[in-house]
Amino acid sequence: MKTLTLPASASDDLSRAVLAATGLLERGEVVALPTETVYGLAADALNPDAVLKIFAAKERPFFDPLIVHLPAIDWLPRITEREPGVERLIERFWPGPLTLVLPKRESVPDLVTSGLPTVAVRMSANSVFRAVIERFGKPLAAPSANRFGRISPTAARHVSAELDGRIPLILDGGPTRFGLESTIISVRAERICVLRSGPITPEQLAEFGSVEFSQMAGKTPDAPGQLKSHYAPRTPLVFADVAGECSATPMSLLGFVPVTGKDYSRFVAIEWLSESGDLREAAATLFAKLRRLDESGAGMIVAEPVPEEGLGIAIMDRLRKAAHRDPCA
Ligand code: TXA
Ligand code: MG
Repeated sequence: MKTLTLPASASDDLSRAVLAATGLLERGEVVALPTETVYGLAADALNPDAVLKIFAAKERPFFDPLIVHLPAIDWLPRITEREPGVERLIERFWPGPLTLVLPKRESVPDLVTSGLPTVAVRMSANSVFRAVIERFGKPLAAPSANRFGRISPTAARHVSAELDGRIPLILDGGPTRFGLESTIISVRAERICVLRSGPITPEQLAEFGSVEFSQMAGKTPDAPGQLKSHYAPRTPLVFADVAGECSATPMSLLGFVPVTGKDYSRFVAIEWLSESGDLREAAATLFAKLRRLDESGAGMIVAEPVPEEGLGIAIMDRLRKAAHRDPCA
């Protein structure tokens, strides 16, 4: 199968791209689409044969459930049960990078939720994604468009690097705005549990109830042995404080802000997340820079920590999951 990449920037391009995408989705195929977080690999969420193709293209294990994206809010009661406290969050953050885990209705195939009684739902704010899903008129299941365990794509060329030849179409909507996957929460009795940290920060959520972190969300560092490897470059990644213990050469640096007077000459490649220390810029460019360093030929990527506040919580979560278990192996 040859993968076609269509631009979706100018309005002529967009309507051609939307038609091509919806045609494929209606035939039960998968299509890669930009969202405001990362590129997703979309298929008709209510068609198990179509959803199966997502798992196949990504080599994703069936125990990992998918996020269902809604074309409009009126779809919510058709696929989830009511949960008190959810309306206010939706009103504030949808469409946008917040995913809610809610009790599912029978209409959602078990394949989508890996047999769980809950389903993860969100509404994307990306104009290309919205044009496609509004024309398609039904929910789309869409995980990040990378092979399982790898770095999420934030540009169309990243999708082709991951899935070329495995999917029929990629719509190119340019680099994604936030660059990190959506914040995932569950809500119970005004208690918000963050299952995955992301662009919507705990501070923003705190207005709507008490906020706690599930162990998986990465706010508190897990014991190294429990670290789930995910979002991983092929090159081992270690944090700057343990890099000194290893002698692997050559090394590259994923730095936050350059410090004047500091000697960086031992690094064969350097990417700064934000020369001005802006966490928004750091989040938006993190995955692209990680990919570039992965291709730089260095034997190890050394990552500097970023301040663990606001968006920095999600950035550190992704860096910890990308980190190599044994830096000196
Ligand atoms: O920003 C995003 O969320 C992107 C874009 C494409 O929408 N999607 C995304 O999907 O990151 P994915 O599949 O790469 O990550 C979804 C995560 C998975 O780790 C999955 O385990 C979790 O959501 N998830 C899905 N359904 C769940 C459920 N019912 N309960 C708990 N976690 C769930
Ligand atoms: Mg993913």
